[in-house]
Amino acid sequence: MPTSVFIHRTSALTIENGSVTWETPSNIALVKYWGKKEDQIPANPSISFTLSNCKTITTLSYKKRSNPSDEFQFEVYLEGKLQDDFKPKINTFFKRIEQYVPFIKEFEYKIETSNTFPHSSGIASSASGMSALALCVMSIEKEINPSLTEVDFTKKASFLARLGSGSACRSLEGDLVCWGTHKEIGGTSDLFGVKYPHEVHENFKGYQDTILLVDKGEKQVSSSVGHNLMHNHPYAENRFQQAHDNLSKLIDVFKSGNLKSFIEIVESEALTLHAMMMTSLPYFILMKPNTLEIINKIWAFRESSGLHLCFTLDAGANVHLLYPDNEKEQVLDFINSQLVGYCQNAHYICDSIGFGANLIED
Ligand code: DP6
Repeated sequence: MPTSVFIHRTSALTIENGSVTWETPSNIALVKYWGKKEDQIPANPSISFTLSNCKTITTLSYKKRSNPSDEFQFEVYLEGKLQDDFKPKINTFFKRIEQYVPFIKEFEYKIETSNTFPHSSGIASSASGMSALALCVMSIEKEINPSLTEVDFTKKASFLARLGSGSACRSLEGDLVCWGTHKEIGGTSDLFGVKYPHEVHENFKGYQDTILLVDKGEKQVSSSVGHNLMHNHPYAENRFQQAHDNLSKLIDVFKSGNLKSFIEIVESEALTLHAMMMTSLPYFILMKPNTLEIINKIWAFRESSGLHLCFTLDAGANVHLLYPDNEKEQVLDFINSQLVGYCQNAHYICDSIGFGANLIED
């Protein structure tokens, strides 16, 4: 699909000002996106559970500029406080999306954002944050171009979100979203996320994600740097193929509800992601000793209890515990008795699979 389909003809601007608020969840990848090409094109397809409680709420207020210049004009506030260090990332985002939303420089903006999870929790807010902002921008486009259908609105919002942060394009809908072309999953694209279109077994309804906050500090290596290290990585091609194969295997797993296979694929993906970090040049390690302690405890617990608890990791030390809804009670007992000591300040966040973004105010 040519990217030009996302450049919509816009009518003459009559809008003077306005404000819109979107609430968008984070997501956790089961098959990981790690490695990208130019223009935020993923090196392999990925799939994620959309979350429910970890969300960003963003209000975008816009006002027609009296004399538009070449610069984007905006202020950004996090939890009510001016946050100038967010500006470079948002400026890059605006630059990348400008050709698709040519009205963007006609306005000046106030961006007010807050997260339902603590900012310094090590939980990446770029997926929820960038998708919320992309949706706000799309609401302006919808005002200019009211004939835009809901399907095209969401598709373009995901397309724009991807240009802000790759994983953000998987945060608009739920409960399972794929991004990146995969030959067995119709409708998938490198340009935007799509809802997983095939059958999903009851076992995955209400799936739980409890996030153990092992290290709330800033990461030593950002995701963008990590992605770039996949260029010339000795194992890159095999890894990209493995992601395709794992996604193929997941199609059967989602259909049959086979949790044993699900666990194997998800944990292997998490460890492969970190193995790629450890084998890049320069190499780096984002796991902490407590990450490994938790993983070993999970394996021992799974062996002794016969339950279906597994883990996944994103680009950090925190551990996401994934398990079926009907095992919640025993798993929470296990977390409270055996894992909470490995979390910074005994802090963990309970979340579960969710259904995507919501428009709060227009
Ligand atoms: C490990 O989406 O944060 O969480 O596109 O550079 O913003 P950028 O990267 P980002 O990478 C996320 C990587 C990951 C895996 C995943 O979510 O698929």
